[in-house]
Amino acid sequence: MSKLAINGGIPVREKPIASWPIFDNKEKEYLLKAFESGEWGKLSGKMNDEFERQYSKFQQAKHTITVCNGTVALRIALFASGIGPGDEVIVPSYTFIATATSVIEANAIPVFADIEYDSFNIDPESIEKQITPRTKAIIPVHFGGAPCNMTKIMEIANRYKLRVIEDGAQAQGSMWDGHCIGTFGDSGTFSFQSSKNMTSGEGGAIVTNIDSIAEAIYSFHNCGRRQGSPWYFHFNMGSNYRLSEFQAAILLAQLEREENNIALRRENASYLLQLLSDIEGIEPLVYSKEVMSSNYLFIAKYDSDKFCGLPKAKFISALNAEGIPAMEGYPFPLYKQPVFSEKNFLAKDCSPKERSLYLPEMNYKDLYHPNAEKACKNGFWFPNYLLHGSKKDIETVAEAINKIKCHLPEIK
Ligand SMILES: Cc1ncc(COP(=O)(O)O)c(C=O)c1O
Repeated sequence: MSKLAINGGIPVREKPIASWPIFDNKEKEYLLKAFESGEWGKLSGKMNDEFERQYSKFQQAKHTITVCNGTVALRIALFASGIGPGDEVIVPSYTFIATATSVIEANAIPVFADIEYDSFNIDPESIEKQITPRTKAIIPVHFGGAPCNMTKIMEIANRYKLRVIEDGAQAQGSMWDGHCIGTFGDSGTFSFQSSKNMTSGEGGAIVTNIDSIAEAIYSFHNCGRRQGSPWYFHFNMGSNYRLSEFQAAILLAQLEREENNIALRRENASYLLQLLSDIEGIEPLVYSKEVMSSNYLFIAKYDSDKFCGLPKAKFISALNAEGIPAMEGYPFPLYKQPVFSEKNFLAKDCSPKERSLYLPEMNYKDLYHPNAEKACKNGFWFPNYLLHGSKKDIETVAEAINKIKCHLPEIK
């Protein structure tokens, strides 16, 4: 076996597994249509309307409202569920920052819960431990595209009368127990940012089955207007979070092939699972039978002891050098991010004393969630586009890991 690529050897693969994003003439055709129509904004064009209709069908939801990204989608969803000052919202400590900062933006209080080490998703038992009389909502995140245990989460939410907003930024088309994610609770949010399974560069959407929530979302994303009311009437707080017609045009084309893409990723994910399960020290996540994942990420745990103590960061660099895209994942749980540990919630440069006045009851610095800590230490991710290759491409992933294993003494 040749020298490791990280040490100047020939990589296992020289060509990328798949190019990203995936597009063809459909995107061009719809973009041109939007362009030539001269109606480039959401309120006068047809692309957003059509995408909202199609996406509702895809997500088995009554309403979809497109918005400009997955971060504001969360903030709007919180607003529509009536979350505000003094309300505590339970979020996982292993997720993208927006899940937690959107709660701050809604003037509410993020309270972190630990995750399950089996699925890297929020742990229902940990949710229940965080509930206080001020708890108003839970934001489960369907991490990597794999749905949370929505049966247990909805049981807890119903028992304590909590609102549920699903963060499905990574989980377009995913299902829990045969039911599309997004409408188990009040609403579900999605991201179409450039790495997501369906993308328009930036973009987002919110789905709901509840008419009054849909009305509130519409109003908040359109400057506090109400449908059918005069243009300069603003009934409540809101802003301009509308998606452009060009982005909606691209999303319409992306949506048309998403079912096939999900099927391809699922098939390749199960092949990769089979191949990696044979490698000591690599343990792919295995989900419960209710999970139908969109496979935004393929997640595995790395045991450095089985790789002669090779640190995860070095392992990932060696894998990347062999031509295999892989990521280390989050460096630490969200409560260790300076925005939380230092309570840097205000835009202005303020003193530690001023900072401590904000959410004085919260001390994020002292939190320690064993599973989230372990997930950050040992977890690593393969991106969605790796699952768009052929069977032979998938085999090169195992080949590269085995090559690294055979050359461990050579890695410094
Ligand atoms: C779990 C999660 N929530 C929210 C977001 C925010 O979405 P956006 O980047 O579109 O604002 C992301 C994006 O990466 C995400 O992964």
